[in-house]
Amino acid sequence: MIHHHDVIIIGGGLTGLRAALQIKDAGLDGAVISKVHPLRSHSVAAQGGMNASLGNVEGEGGVKDSWKNHAYDTVKGSDYLADQDAVELMCREAPRTVIELEHMGTVWSRLENGKIAQRPFGGAGFPRTCYAADRTGHNALHTLYENMVGREIPVYEEFYLTSLVIDEGRCVGCTALDIMTGEVHGFQARAVLLATGGFGRIYDRSTNALINTGEGASLALEAGAQLKDMEFVQFHPTTLYGTNILITEGARGEGGILLNKDEKRFMEGYAPRTRDLAARDVISRAMEQEIAEGRAYPGGYLYLDLRHLGPDKIRERLPGIRQIAMDFAGVDPIEEKIPVQPGQHYSMGGVDVGMGGATSIPGLYAAGECACISVHGANRLGGNSLLETVVFGRLVADKIIEDVSSINFTEEGPIKTAMINMDIKIGDILGREEGENLFQIREAMTRTMSQGFGILREKQEMQESLQEIKKLQKQLPRVSLQNSKRELNQALVRFLELEGMLLLSEAVARSAIAREESRGSHFRTDYPGRDDVKFLKHTLIDLKDDEMRVSYKPVKLGMFELEERVY
Ligand code: FUM
Repeated sequence: MIHHHDVIIIGGGLTGLRAALQIKDAGLDGAVISKVHPLRSHSVAAQGGMNASLGNVEGEGGVKDSWKNHAYDTVKGSDYLADQDAVELMCREAPRTVIELEHMGTVWSRLENGKIAQRPFGGAGFPRTCYAADRTGHNALHTLYENMVGREIPVYEEFYLTSLVIDEGRCVGCTALDIMTGEVHGFQARAVLLATGGFGRIYDRSTNALINTGEGASLALEAGAQLKDMEFVQFHPTTLYGTNILITEGARGEGGILLNKDEKRFMEGYAPRTRDLAARDVISRAMEQEIAEGRAYPGGYLYLDLRHLGPDKIRERLPGIRQIAMDFAGVDPIEEKIPVQPGQHYSMGGVDVGMGGATSIPGLYAAGECACISVHGANRLGGNSLLETVVFGRLVADKIIEDVSSINFTEEGPIKTAMINMDIKIGDILGREEGENLFQIREAMTRTMSQGFGILREKQEMQESLQEIKKLQKQLPRVSLQNSKRELNQALVRFLELEGMLLLSEAVARSAIAREESRGSHFRTDYPGRDDVKFLKHTLIDLKDDEMRVSYKPVKLGMFELEERVY
């Protein structure tokens, strides 16, 4: 079956839904394709908040926040790799974005005076993070979804993106698998927006939902787009030991502190001024060092202590993480410390796009975590991701609305061909009666990525890990799923995900090996310093004839001078 819409939006998280509303309000026919029900998108799990310089809480000495302060913190946090024009745009748009969400229905937490509450977050010079207790993503996603339902925007739920269709150099649609029936559908569109989120599940310890497998980025790469800054993978300092569920930075924003096994507040030694509210890369590295030097608990965890905040504050501001700690670690943070360790949390890299979200393929756009625009550079500040999703969901939709006015639908032929090809491919995968085990390959990949491309990296280990990833790629054609049914075949979806994840793993590996310096989240023990002479530039990856190639392009500077980054 072929469906026709002016714009196809792939992804039902905050970026996708915000874009869909904008497209509908412009009078265009947009539809969302999502591998899960939109309310199960990973945006729903975002806890801590959204940054905006509302200035509702004054900074030190009674100073009021401004978009420029926000931009400065973001650029410094990025270790000067963010494009400063994109940062300026995001930070200028932030206050109206928070207010816009409020007008749509988001229930922000409040100050005593009734204004939207703001809490301190890592790497930020002002209390700037607006929040809805510790369930901000949940609140915002429900808001946008309710607005979608009100506008009767079509959603293809539980459809898995299988290919982007390119005809004469232009993206004219996509194919997707209806997971329920196993049927391949075609989607013809005047523009396609990728809003598929991150690829954290290429790692074994991750706060990401199991759905975060990055198919938007891998299929864009296969279709001829470039990936940017893939070596920059963020490790969040506080994930719950055992399951790696996120324990929000908001807990430290409210006054929580990190302790090692000697009950010492160890961040004082690493970031004397900001301590537990330094940027994430700095804290995760410090934790890794505490673990390596034997000052952590067996198994490699430290403690987050909230007890001094008192029961009222914990119940009011952090109810979600209290529940998570009780349910998944058996500790009540009102009375006990929470065992935590760093875990993969965010992908700074993604599909290379310009300010309007356009990729190098006409008709194909990307926004949110799957894109690299780049507002986060080498390290993202907490609270800037939710902001990016909603700001660029809207702005990229505006660019699409402008661009599609001159684009007509083309012939259906290329979509039909892509559907037939995908059908043959799926038939082949399902037809293999014996072969290798998919889940063993997936586990080997996540283990390899964590060992080779974790918080601390070094040339030889990275090269060996890349070889292992290449070996796993070669095993894929020999996998047998042991389930040949078309309907509800989750193993088939996992297989298709794994193909893309192994490509993205290779992209991370090649980018990391080539960057012989340390910057933000990319820390090389063999090159511990930042090298602005050789590496103040974005890494690009492209794929031609099954070969990945690394190249570079300049960072857009202009607003802030380079500085040494200390917290
Ligand atoms: O810690 C957190 O709540 C995460 C926020 C973020 O990644 O922006």
